[in-house]
Amino acid sequence: MTSYHICSIPGDGVGQEVVPQALRVLDAVAAANVFGVSIEEQSWGSAYYAATGRMMPEDGHEIVARADATIFGAVGSPDVPDTISAWGLILSTRQKLDLYLNLRPIRSLPSPLGKGTDFDFLIVRENTEGEYMDVGGRPFKGRSSEMAVQTVIFTAAGIERAIEGAFGRVPAGGLLTSVTKSNALPRTMGLWDDVAQAVADRHPYVRWESMHVDAVAFQMVRDPGRFDVLVASNLFGDILSDLGAGLQGSLGFAASGNVNPEHGTGVFEPIHGSAPDIAGQGTANPCGAINSVAMLLDFLGEERAATEVTEAVDRTLADGVATPDVGGAASTVEFTDEVLSRLSPAGAIDDGSQIREETS
Ligand code: IPM
Ligand code: MG
Repeated sequence: MTSYHICSIPGDGVGQEVVPQALRVLDAVAAANVFGVSIEEQSWGSAYYAATGRMMPEDGHEIVARADATIFGAVGSPDVPDTISAWGLILSTRQKLDLYLNLRPIRSLPSPLGKGTDFDFLIVRENTEGEYMDVGGRPFKGRSSEMAVQTVIFTAAGIERAIEGAFGRVPAGGLLTSVTKSNALPRTMGLWDDVAQAVADRHPYVRWESMHVDAVAFQMVRDPGRFDVLVASNLFGDILSDLGAGLQGSLGFAASGNVNPEHGTGVFEPIHGSAPDIAGQGTANPCGAINSVAMLLDFLGEERAATEVTEAVDRTLADGVATPDVGGAASTVEFTDEVLSRLSPAGAIDDGSQIREETS
């Protein structure tokens, strides 16, 4: 029996609540599809920082690299400066493991707060450079001459692999949108556009366009159904994916995967963050985390299991089950129970340890 070694990093805030629920779904779908999963849970995050002075151990990235895949919750706590929590764990992991594609699928879901039109697109976010280079400084701190420099660094190779990865994900007949801002940022975004053109030349049968990020934001709200795959720099992709989650009706819905398709591992995470305002109440929406498990399964080649998970989530939402962020009353655990019952024809899986009975 194939068995996968999965690293689990619930992290901070609601990450502690949604990741265990996503793992229940992973267990259940593994049993039903006859593959094994061994979970190595890490206590990394802001509490770990308070105890050790680090968000993760020094060899933490190697631990993540050794796993077949990782499910990650969130980082961010009122007790720890957010640059420390972000750079100490997720941002450094993306860069050190060279997880250069951040895949963020956004599609309409049955949600009372959703946009109410059909859309299904993928944001491919460049994940290792651009605006997220940790280069710069703040000289003369506290003086009237204080200044700040945050250097944006794009490389042709970094842009190329992101855009190539996006072109490769455009469905037949679909449209690729390259997100730019070369009118105001002619150097970095000029390079982005030149590379986009060169990559597009290699894909003559894929329709593509170049659009300024502000116009993309507008079109995403006005007519989200027009998009299929968007490719954007690190910061633009970050912002547009939250906008996408807004179209879905809640930040709690959106899933993501940080991957390097050529080698290595993948880190899968809901995009919502630690949400300290609702943490500890048991009400966080687990859809983003559960659908991140679906992306993780897809990455591992377990496509059937991945589809089962997304379909069970869709059916749960279509049946009107909802967490408070979208006006419902289901708790995180109750919502997951409903997903599990829709995974199993017997409706009986409650802890993920049972093998589903196949009826023939
Ligand atoms: C995301 C988050 C992170 C990012 C934060 C936590 C640093 O917003 O994954 O979208 O900006 O990439
Ligand atoms: Mg974000």
